[in-house]
Amino acid sequence: MILSIESSCDDSSIAITKIENNELIFHKKISQEEQHASYGGVVPELASRLHAIDLPNILEECKPYFNKLRAVAVTNQPGLGVTLIEGIAMAKTIAVSLDIPLIPVHHLKGHIYSLFIDKEQILPLLVLLISGGHTQIIRVDSLEKMTILATSIDDSVGESFDKTAKMMGLGYPGGPIIEKLARQGDENRFDLPVPLRNSKLIAFSLSGLKNAVRLTIEKLGGAEKMSEQDRCDLSASFQKAVKLHLLQKSKKIFEQERIKDFAIVGGASANIYIREAYQELCKKFQKRLHTAPLEFCSDNAAMIGRYATEAYRKELFVNHYGIDVIYTKKRQSGTEL
Ligand code: KG4
Ligand code: ZN
Repeated sequence: MILSIESSCDDSSIAITKIENNELIFHKKISQEEQHASYGGVVPELASRLHAIDLPNILEECKPYFNKLRAVAVTNQPGLGVTLIEGIAMAKTIAVSLDIPLIPVHHLKGHIYSLFIDKEQILPLLVLLISGGHTQIIRVDSLEKMTILATSIDDSVGESFDKTAKMMGLGYPGGPIIEKLARQGDENRFDLPVPLRNSKLIAFSLSGLKNAVRLTIEKLGGAEKMSEQDRCDLSASFQKAVKLHLLQKSKKIFEQERIKDFAIVGGASANIYIREAYQELCKKFQKRLHTAPLEFCSDNAAMIGRYATEAYRKELFVNHYGIDVIYTKKRQSGTEL
């Protein structure tokens, strides 16, 4: 079995996965959302301290499996340095104590493998990754070869939901709050700009839309003056603009790439409105749409463990000297993930 650890942001999570058949044996996650909510976003120092409390508490529950462990997997990039180090330090300690190898895992590759928990992998695959930190379309040829086809030039999808919620004084994380309000709203009430609509660029940008949301709130007299219906209508109009932007750029990629299997992953892939829009688009382009179960869309160690079972078979190991936080640089489209 492989024990996997995830601590790249505000979720402390550990999983145990059976190498032989990719079966998820144990999975637990402690989310810190409540502790960060009053700040309107994740406070790295606080997140780090909470990981230092929560990870050992979860690890206690894994003791019965210790003698069956053959490797430890841990997220080492991208993420917050001060939170990644908590998971890495724990992983190193377990690896040294049990004399087993370490498997470093790229968090975004982990999100891609959230699709295959308890399942065989499907390759090649086109993936739209929409999380709190990233918006990317990735072509996945193999475990080692994943190429970015389109990426964000500013705010990510999750971030834009979070900021929109924050501007309306609605708390954190914004994604589920906005999605819920949008269900009661009129998505055509506010005419918000669809980003890069007239640009040939195959990239994502959401900072302009964020600005348009800010101006709309100002016109309504500020967040405090907004009625419940205003909030619902603005949420719906915002969500519609995000959807149209994602669809427009995805369509361009679909015209270029023949791969039949397409997936949406990452925290924002839990959004049903966006999922439904992609169901239609995929039907049009005769692509099969794949999504992860809702519980595995946001950060979790099960996806890290699932990536790790494939990495184990390829012996992508390091010892405890060979692993550290990697401060990932922003990657351009056309480059490897
Ligand atoms: O993948 P994730 O858990 O963490 C990162 O790797 O960044 O994604 C978290 C992001 C947050 O920005 C959150 O607001 C967003 O995913 N999110 C959503 C929804 N649920 C979570 N965004 C839109 N709609 C949702 N239903
Ligand atoms: Zn994530």
